[in-house]
Amino acid sequence: MIRLCREDEFDIICEIINDAATAYRGVIPDELCHDPYMPREELRQQLESGITFWGWVERDELVGVMGIQPVQDVTLIRHAYVRTAHRGRGIGGELLSFLRRQTDRRVLIGTWADADWAVRFYEQHGFRRVGTGEKERLLHKYWGVPQRQVENSVVLAEAGTNVK
Ligand SMILES: CC(C)(COP(=O)(O)OP(=O)(O)OC[C@H]1O[C@@H](n2cnc3c(N)ncnc32)[C@H](O)[C@@H]1OP(=O)(O)O)[C@@H](O)C(=O)NCCC(=O)NCCS
Repeated sequence: MIRLCREDEFDIICEIINDAATAYRGVIPDELCHDPYMPREELRQQLESGITFWGWVERDELVGVMGIQPVQDVTLIRHAYVRTAHRGRGIGGELLSFLRRQTDRRVLIGTWADADWAVRFYEQHGFRRVGTGEKERLLHKYWGVPQRQVENSVVLAEAGTNVK
């Protein structure tokens, strides 16, 4: 079942992100893969910046989360994480399809360039990587991430859509 995450689930959201993000260890550059990957203060800032988290719940337990954030004229999918033990069962796919139905705007997703499983996951759902110049422009315009992160990221857009 998919539902909006509650405020009192802050700790569990943080825990799910940090559990799932262990997938990045040894894959993305060490200096970008700090421990914990998502410190509590950073998650607090992300929520304050307007990210809304939806969760996949099984037997009253949150096992996957995905965030959605309207920014200017687009919608960003932020922080897609499914507990390691529950991956590959279609939960991420259900959450992604659900979030896409919550918006009429163009949907953009940013992820680590080296996380090929994540890129493949989004491609299977109809997203395509944008070119390098476009990626840099979009990351600066909509995410405002540091340059080092820009260099190591990719942006995916729904196939067939042009981003202004
Ligand atoms: C990326 C992520 C969110 C996807 O969530 P997920 O629940 O594993 O995704 P799904 O199960 O819907 O799809 C993943 C794979 O399982 C397969 N799958 C989907 N439904 C399935 C099912 N019922 N049974 C078996 N496999 C299934 C999909 O075909 C896909 O295959 P692939 O490995 O060839 O890509 C999750 O793997 C994760 O948290 N990864 C680590 C963190 C990360 O990379 N996050 C993305 C950052 S933006």
